[in-house]
Amino acid sequence: MRKLLLLSFVILFTLAAIAKDKIVYIEKFDNSSVGDVFKVFDIEGDELTDASAVVEADPASPSSLCLHVKTGSKAAFVEFQNPGNISGSTVLKTYERIYMQFYVPESNTAALNRNVVVILGANSQTVNAASGVNEAGKWIPTTQTLGKASSIRKTVRIGLNVKEGEYYVKLIRYLTTDFGYDYNDPTQTARYYADQLGLNFGVCVSPGQLNDNSRMGQTIWRNFNMMVGENAMKMDATEPNQNGFNFSQGDAILSFAEKHDMKVRGHTLCWHSQIPSWIGNSNSADNPKGWTKKQLLDILKNHIYGVVKHYAGKIVEWDVVNECLADGQSGNGYVLRSNSIWRSVIGEEFIDSAFVWARRAADEAGDYDVKLYLNDYSVDAWSGGKTKALYNLAVRLKNSGVPIDGVGMQTHTQINNYNLSGVKESLEKFKAAGLNCIFTEIDIEGSNPISTTQLKTTQGEKYAGIVDFVCSYEISPTMVVWGISDGNSWLSNAATTKPLLFTADMEAKPAYLAVVNKFKEYAEKAGVGQVYSDESPWGESAVDVYNITGQKIASGVTIDFIDNLPEGLYIVGGRKLYVK
Ligand code: G3I
Repeated sequence: MRKLLLLSFVILFTLAAIAKDKIVYIEKFDNSSVGDVFKVFDIEGDELTDASAVVEADPASPSSLCLHVKTGSKAAFVEFQNPGNISGSTVLKTYERIYMQFYVPESNTAALNRNVVVILGANSQTVNAASGVNEAGKWIPTTQTLGKASSIRKTVRIGLNVKEGEYYVKLIRYLTTDFGYDYNDPTQTARYYADQLGLNFGVCVSPGQLNDNSRMGQTIWRNFNMMVGENAMKMDATEPNQNGFNFSQGDAILSFAEKHDMKVRGHTLCWHSQIPSWIGNSNSADNPKGWTKKQLLDILKNHIYGVVKHYAGKIVEWDVVNECLADGQSGNGYVLRSNSIWRSVIGEEFIDSAFVWARRAADEAGDYDVKLYLNDYSVDAWSGGKTKALYNLAVRLKNSGVPIDGVGMQTHTQINNYNLSGVKESLEKFKAAGLNCIFTEIDIEGSNPISTTQLKTTQGEKYAGIVDFVCSYEISPTMVVWGISDGNSWLSNAATTKPLLFTADMEAKPAYLAVVNKFKEYAEKAGVGQVYSDESPWGESAVDVYNITGQKIASGVTIDFIDNLPEGLYIVGGRKLYVK
């Protein structure tokens, strides 16, 4: 029987805690004998005869063994088999670091302060780092980051870069990052808990990042259950020529999403920026082609119909209108931005029309579930005039019968400015107005440069605060970060303000672990993790099964039927159930 996770019970056991470093030994000499010999090679890959690597008693603790390396006219690198016959490519996907200890004898200190060399692939793909082995007569631990090899062997060669030198080495092992995070273990990912809570935890991507085998591709699908194109579904990409649609970038995102069971949100159908040049200029009220109001409305309608119908049933949320509000609002009513061709040629009704056409196009294509959002930035705390303007406009649309489901708070913000209690106040207002309020483009910058406290603590607190919102407000099912890593952000200071959840090397930051822990806390409260793998929680009783949108799938069925359902969330016998 497969695993069934009952979601609405009190938890019966504690889920595995975030693991510390996961380790696999390459060699610890516990199965070796004194006198065993290992092969040594020079940096070009030629086997050396004037160097040696022999198993001996540990010079500091003679009851255990280690390897004694002596080099001659060239630096020598000892060859080890990778453990369990794993190849280096598996190493790179699973373990990001290599650890070993060195001991330089006081009788020959040539090996002190030399680089550690780790050769995982072809000779040119060498990982070098200052060794830190700076004291003779004691064991010194070193850790090197892997990740530079692309063509891979089943062996690894290791050594200090020293000629005519001598040293001992032991406890050679691969390990995960310092953050104790292993994305191969789903229970250490935010996705695992977000999936079970039925929430969307997303990231913006470009098609070029979606490679199944790359560290980046894996970081995306293993940690997130939703994607949005950073640029792929904007008008300049989807309709580069009038009525000449190009869906290639968006389709690439959808196919990756399908493969990895992820949702996709659409960004964006109508924006004053990134418009194709055949319409006019981005960020401008000018109308260089002289479109009449009717012509531009027809263009907008044709675009929205073309894109929404193409993606019908595949996109769960659309940002229908993006950033239509002016900056610097008083909070009374709302003021639309002026540097927009939509606003200058059509007037405010472009907003109403865009929503109506998006809804009609989706409905005509049989997609009644897609949610339609009005998206903007600097609309976070309720004290902000622009937040009130967004509210006033969204309420005006809703009261006019325009099919709007809610608002998107982009959440491009800073650790020191982001006011969680102010955002909560806004959520309460949107909730009372019957509007969803989701987090669509989150990045939370630190000071420039980010401080250690921000990096280790406060950035995570702000991110986890948003997790709190999506877990506790039904009107807020989605949170999306705007970029996979600090190396993939649109922000010009991202290298130093580090706004996102992963480092440029794709290691999980403390903020990511804070997000995981917060989702996990809610999942545990909801009883996620009560695993029924051997018996039915309903005994032999017959139950009704619904999908998560409330559609009935089956009546009066027993556990055999449930056991054969595709993986996903269901409502069975009145309780939420995750079938794995
Ligand atoms: O497509 C061209 C490419 O052909 C060319 O070689 C390259 C050279 O620079 O530029 C490419 O276009 C860039 C595009 O990103 C795709 O990479 C544009 O110059 C660049 O301006 C554009 O930036 C995007 C920006 O929106 C444009 O307004 C950012 O990636 C994207 O993160 C950002 O996203 C916006 C949201 O859509 C709305 N909210 C604010 C958010 C941040 O600005």
